[in-house]
Amino acid sequence: MRHLLDIDDLSPAELATILDLAEDPDPPRVLAGCGVALIFEKPSNRTRNAAEMAVTALGGHPVSIRGEEVGIGVRESPEDVARVLACYHAVLGARVDDHRTLEAMAATGAAPVLNLLSDRAHPTQALADLLTLRRLWGGLAGRRVAWVGDGNNVARSFVLAAAMSGMEVSLGSPPGYRLDPVVIDAARALGARVVEADRPEQAVAGADAVATDVWVSMGQEDEAAARLDAFAGYRVDAELMGGAAQGAVFLHCLPAHRGVEVASEVIDGPSSLVWEQASNRMHALRGLLVWVLGGGAAGHAVERSTR
Ligand code: CP
Ligand code: NVA
Repeated sequence: MRHLLDIDDLSPAELATILDLAEDPDPPRVLAGCGVALIFEKPSNRTRNAAEMAVTALGGHPVSIRGEEVGIGVRESPEDVARVLACYHAVLGARVDDHRTLEAMAATGAAPVLNLLSDRAHPTQALADLLTLRRLWGGLAGRRVAWVGDGNNVARSFVLAAAMSGMEVSLGSPPGYRLDPVVIDAARALGARVVEADRPEQAVAGADAVATDVWVSMGQEDEAAARLDAFAGYRVDAELMGGAAQGAVFLHCLPAHRGVEVASEVIDGPSSLVWEQASNRMHALRGLLVWVLGGGAAGHAVERSTR
């Protein structure tokens, strides 16, 4: 049984396989007659809708559940929630306040557990982002991506995924908000060139893609004032994009705040791929579900041959 708590739970080859499966216009109905539980302890637009439609496309039935309904750690332990939901569902997805909740659920071995965003990581977003770039460029290896802004959950998964795909990474974050050095070491151990820049202008120089995210993530609302102060000067605007490579594209997982971490001229401009990213959340989740249920490669061939 495989889980996806962060993107490096996969090998680079498995990551590429999931991207391939995400491109399948006629995926195997690996969830026929099965349920998938989708728990959300935090709000969601893209992830809930993308996951529900991905499950439906594979013949399954998604059941979205608000965090307070199940009360993980309040009404029941994460382990008991996982064991019970696995009685009805083939896969469990959860968006959680605390990454350790996912680890506890996965440790039961009751069903595959997918991280739909935690305080630490957002691997299904990274899958969609790589799918978006691969569709644009045809390949990923040798490209250079810059992350500007908060070294947060989305950054962590994006940087690891980029490194796993043979890309170079440059990082432009203010002191105190940089990506965990453990993640940078892990990206380098994957063979990636990772450059930590002091200024966003240095980070984007020569980059083929520039990515950012909100400066205040869900659960950090109390830190908003300090964060807005620390990130002043890290907005992705047309001038900053002008320092990237010719034809560079802009990525943002959304939701976005125009005039805060990104200027309208960029997110609504011709270099922006944000709607492609949002759309690809669904395709990437479909590919992930096929893979986690063993429907890739040989399984897929069998399914097709018996149709
Ligand atoms: N990008 C993303 O995860 O969006 P939601 O929070 O709307 O799911
Ligand atoms: N970093 C953001 C991403 C939202 C999709 C958050 O955790 O709130």
